[in-house]
Amino acid sequence: MKKHQKLLLSIAERFADKRIDPPCMYAGNCGGCALQHFDYSTQLAIKKEYCNALLNTVISVDAIEPSIPLGYRSRMDYVTAFGKIGLRRRGSFKHVVDLYDCLLLQDAGRSIFATIREKISGVEDYDYLVHKGYLRYVILRQGFNTGQVMANFVVARNENNLEAVINAIYNNVDSISLILSDGLADLSYGKVFEDIKRGYIEESLDGIIYRITPNSFFQANTYMTQIIYREIARHVYGNVLDMYCGVGSISLYVAKQAKSVTGVETNHEAVAAAGHNAALNGIDNVTFVQADALEYVSGNTMKYDVAIVDPPRTGLGPKVVGKLLQADLTRIVYMSCNPVTFAQDAAMLVDRYALTWCKAYDMFPQTQHIELLAVFEKK
Ligand SMILES: C[S@@+](CC[C@H](N)C(=O)[O-])C[C@H]1O[C@@H](n2cnc3c(N)ncnc32)[C@H](O)[C@@H]1O
Repeated sequence: MKKHQKLLLSIAERFADKRIDPPCMYAGNCGGCALQHFDYSTQLAIKKEYCNALLNTVISVDAIEPSIPLGYRSRMDYVTAFGKIGLRRRGSFKHVVDLYDCLLLQDAGRSIFATIREKISGVEDYDYLVHKGYLRYVILRQGFNTGQVMANFVVARNENNLEAVINAIYNNVDSISLILSDGLADLSYGKVFEDIKRGYIEESLDGIIYRITPNSFFQANTYMTQIIYREIARHVYGNVLDMYCGVGSISLYVAKQAKSVTGVETNHEAVAAAGHNAALNGIDNVTFVQADALEYVSGNTMKYDVAIVDPPRTGLGPKVVGKLLQADLTRIVYMSCNPVTFAQDAAMLVDRYALTWCKAYDMFPQTQHIELLAVFEKK
């Protein structure tokens, strides 16, 4: 068991008298949820202690901002292996829990999943232990505010052997794509080799429309994302750099508060979608650059007032932090999905920027994950 899992368990142990019967029959076995056997207010109390332990004195949070406890997820990646479709067993990459439903997913996605389950039995799945077979993942994505649904099938061969499944869902989803993932790595993304239907869905946040393509990142809990973006917009002014910008979601959201926004992102599909999203919303003070974050901050004079950073779970790391320390920024707004790497980055950033504000959000209720938003001001 990993160190952080042990920490969470030891904190949860102190709340043992608050245990409830979990709403989902797979809780405890399925790796998706770690805290479902506590009511929601107890989950938030456990997470607050866990978060502060992970932040390790860099800063502490007073509370965890609550979300919708169930039915919040706009994306689920279901593994198809060993005659099963579902999520990996808690603590075991080698085992898949055969799911008939998942209460975290939004309603429309749940009903599409039920149809897919019914029709999928004839399709060859993929044994990721011996690397043999065809269908690796079924991915369902849904716009929380638009209701649009996307179904993606990640396969190991450039073939469409999914006719029965696709026919069954075709009229009830907005987008269907086939994605090729033919390497040894267990990836639920790859090259889109066929858009069977449309190839994108849309989400909207406070009036801004976003196009989401099969491989591009979009936050999995729109309800909470909207609350966090509203907060980010309060800390933005002047010329803004949005590093790790995905499909431009934060860039476009804060464009009204900024003189200009430059979004930087490695994934070319996301950068193309970001450009499309700017045009779709008639926003013309935003530019998107396809680049590695480190390369971009190394090669540019960084004439920005504010940098927004929203890196993957690995965090910024010492090299990117080093460049931010050399840059002449007035403020850094840091959105993080991993308090551990956030604490490491923050401990370095405070050499030059004071950590003045931090808040924690429950982006993933029922799970151990915590989202943070923090503001650093130049000293
Ligand atoms: C946590 S997501 C944030 C996306 C966006 N800010 C949002 O709120 O939807 C991190 C993004 O960083 C991108 N990314 C990962 N490594 C990167 C790198 N080295 N340079 C630039 N972008 C990177 C990923 O493709 C992903 O879109």
